[in-house]
Amino acid sequence: MARAPLVTVVGSSFVGLTTALALAHHGTRCRLLDTDAAKVEAIQGGRAPFEEPGVQAALKRHLKSGRVTATASIPDAYRGATHVMICVGTPPAWDGSQDLRFIKAVARSVGEEIHGRMRGGYLTAIVKSTVIPGTTAGLVRGEIESASGRRAGRDFGLAANPEFLREGTALHDALHPDRVVVGGIDKRSADEALRLFRWSKAPVVRTDPTTAEAVKYAANAFLATKVSFANEFANYCAEVGVDWYTVADAIGHDDRIGRKFLNAGVGFGGSCFPKDLKAITTAARAAGRPLEIAQAALEVNGRQPSEVTRVILRELGGLERKRIALLGLAFKPGTDDVRESRALLIAAEVIEGGAEVVGFDPLVKDQFARALALQHRANFTRVETIEEAVEGADAVVVQTEADAFRSLDPRTVKRRARHALVLDGRRVLDPQRFARAGVDYWGVGVGMVRAAGGRKRA
Ligand code: UGA
Repeated sequence: MARAPLVTVVGSSFVGLTTALALAHHGTRCRLLDTDAAKVEAIQGGRAPFEEPGVQAALKRHLKSGRVTATASIPDAYRGATHVMICVGTPPAWDGSQDLRFIKAVARSVGEEIHGRMRGGYLTAIVKSTVIPGTTAGLVRGEIESASGRRAGRDFGLAANPEFLREGTALHDALHPDRVVVGGIDKRSADEALRLFRWSKAPVVRTDPTTAEAVKYAANAFLATKVSFANEFANYCAEVGVDWYTVADAIGHDDRIGRKFLNAGVGFGGSCFPKDLKAITTAARAAGRPLEIAQAALEVNGRQPSEVTRVILRELGGLERKRIALLGLAFKPGTDDVRESRALLIAAEVIEGGAEVVGFDPLVKDQFARALALQHRANFTRVETIEEAVEGADAVVVQTEADAFRSLDPRTVKRRARHALVLDGRRVLDPQRFARAGVDYWGVGVGMVRAAGGRKRA
């Protein structure tokens, strides 16, 4: 009988930790390995290194059950493992390609572990990180084989198993996947990888590693393109007096289109779409088959935050000494992740024009100010409430659809702002309600709805 799986999960960030918790939930023992000793210590102490609903509680539960442990020691992490799940980062390199340094180092360490195993102890390496098609069967295989002196598919297993987790609902997504994609280098590798997902009722796609890797990029590129399509069409609709959201609802009834990912806004951000689109378009160009639609989706996305600046400039007649309130600093609600947040671009643009920016987000602490200073050399003031942000503002920009912002009271803006102007970057407010309360409203895909009775200064 096959040994019960013992999975070493390399990389304890978002994907690694969430995956380990989902596997542990279904009875599999997981050992997290991370070179960052502070992260390991936090996890051992029951503190998740990021904000994600349910993760903290699940971590405490599985530390207690003993199904999840964490270590910074490579030999301790690999001892007795049946599977190694590679969940390390694949950051962008200077030229937009993928920096595979971490993947390579882990593959070598897996090879060294296989080399040191005397007999038996079959190990299957599973690449979960998002990697350019061909990486598992090329670089990863090559590194493990050269460090171990053994052959993939004969002496050890190798598979690609991309993840489709969304930030903010990651644990739920990991526990209820809508498909399991496994690309094995051979049958046994795929069988071994799938053994970890026996509990799942989701459709299984069994394929080769390169196809599995391509599935991940095709999914993200398609979704990002859908968002950019919505944004571009929404800008046009606003120009000709049409509400994009009515259009989106109507076309969304066509199940060939679907309503999801048609919400127009100030653009997509996060650790995945922008990075993955850059990586795959760079790889496709290098392969002589450019992905022009994905490229255009990126370009549209780069311009979309400027819609906000354009309207502020037009409405205020300039940015010098203006105070802009940003509601929502993360790239989306439910997370503290500010990577590629459109709020960074909006803040940088208005600050460049001479404005000061104050902001509030229910989950984000100092990471936004740090990122803004680092990437744009710009200063920013974080406040603790919506009211403080709105106080004395010349424009209030809603950048995420967090519940706290959906319930923004127009009277708060009217009473506290210097200039009653709201820019709804995610279409979460009722334009008429704001106009009736004497607030000028602008929304993505609908344009300007003027305050009833003409513009008034609060
Ligand atoms: C995305 C994918 O949805 C996941 O399936 C994938 O696993 C993940 O990337 C990844 O590659 O790891 P995530 O980046 O967490 O997940 O966030 P999404 O919910 O997909 O949103 C991405 C961006 O698109 C956000 O900035 C969001 O505000 C924006 N968006 C989304 C819109 O502007 N409009 C929409 O209708 C939907």
